[in-house]
Amino acid sequence: MKTVLITGCSSGFGVEIARYFLARDWRVIATMRTPRDDVFAASDRLLILPLDVTDAQSIRAAVDAAGPIDVLVNNAGIGFLNAVEGTPMDTAREIFETNTLGTIAMTQAVLPQFRERREGVVVNVTSTVTCRPLHLLSVYTASKSAVNAFSESLALELEQFNVRVRVVLPGRAPSTRFGENARSRMQSGFPEPYGALVEQIFANWEKETTVTHAADVAEAVWLAATDSSSPFNIPAGEDAVEWYNARGLR
Ligand SMILES: NC(=O)c1ccc[n+]([C@@H]2O[C@H](COP(=O)([O-])OP(=O)(O)OC[C@H]3O[C@@H](n4cnc5c(N)ncnc54)[C@H](OP(=O)(O)O)[C@@H]3O)[C@@H](O)[C@H]2O)c1
Repeated sequence: MKTVLITGCSSGFGVEIARYFLARDWRVIATMRTPRDDVFAASDRLLILPLDVTDAQSIRAAVDAAGPIDVLVNNAGIGFLNAVEGTPMDTAREIFETNTLGTIAMTQAVLPQFRERREGVVVNVTSTVTCRPLHLLSVYTASKSAVNAFSESLALELEQFNVRVRVVLPGRAPSTRFGENARSRMQSGFPEPYGALVEQIFANWEKETTVTHAADVAEAVWLAATDSSSPFNIPAGEDAVEWYNARGLR
């Protein structure tokens, strides 16, 4: 039986990814910063473990407790939207600590077992915001673009050990807790000179009709994990596919 370890399983894509693999008879290590037993139906193939990807000790404890795994899904992430002038450096650090360094630290923690067994897959969840520049998303996009670049180099150096790397790029998914979680670190508001731009950006979003659903992301992660012929970058969601296909056209 294959085992997947997924980060950020308290809500959103992480929950859906975990359910998708459970439904296909995998053993699932669903990790959360604060473990809850009301997220998943009980299963003898499910293990819920505490894990904060910004905490080295927490990473070590979770990877030790998980035992051998076949696939790591770096899904945990935080959002933020503001002009650069409205972004406190502590917030920029927090975003990179979680989205970028958290992904690198988790990857480092599982690589020895993948390398020794000559088998394993790392799936990094980034975003189609990395496909073209967007207003007010510079720091978040930078944190995810860094993971794209990290993943490309990582894939090259792991080829010799038969370890695969894939990047899943979801589009905009308003149904997860991502926006709500991001708003908790956006309490200081937007700098006044950017007010008109902010209004315009929000109005444009309201006109968008295609979105990404958590099920799209779960399917893409499954493809990444189980199909060695899958593409390196896998856009997930109707809007994501549109954005990804248009990325070379700007
Ligand atoms: N929703 C979108 O529009 C969208 C689009 C493209 C890409 N993404 C990416 O998709 C991934 C999942 O997002 P989502 O939409 O499912 O959002 P979500 O509902 O907010 O879920 C994010 C998960 O990450 C966890 N997390 C945050 N900081 C963590 C840390 N330091 N250590 C471990 N876990 C941590 C959260 O746990 P807590 O409950 O403890 O906070 C939560 O379980 C993220 O990487 C996000 O950047 C989202």
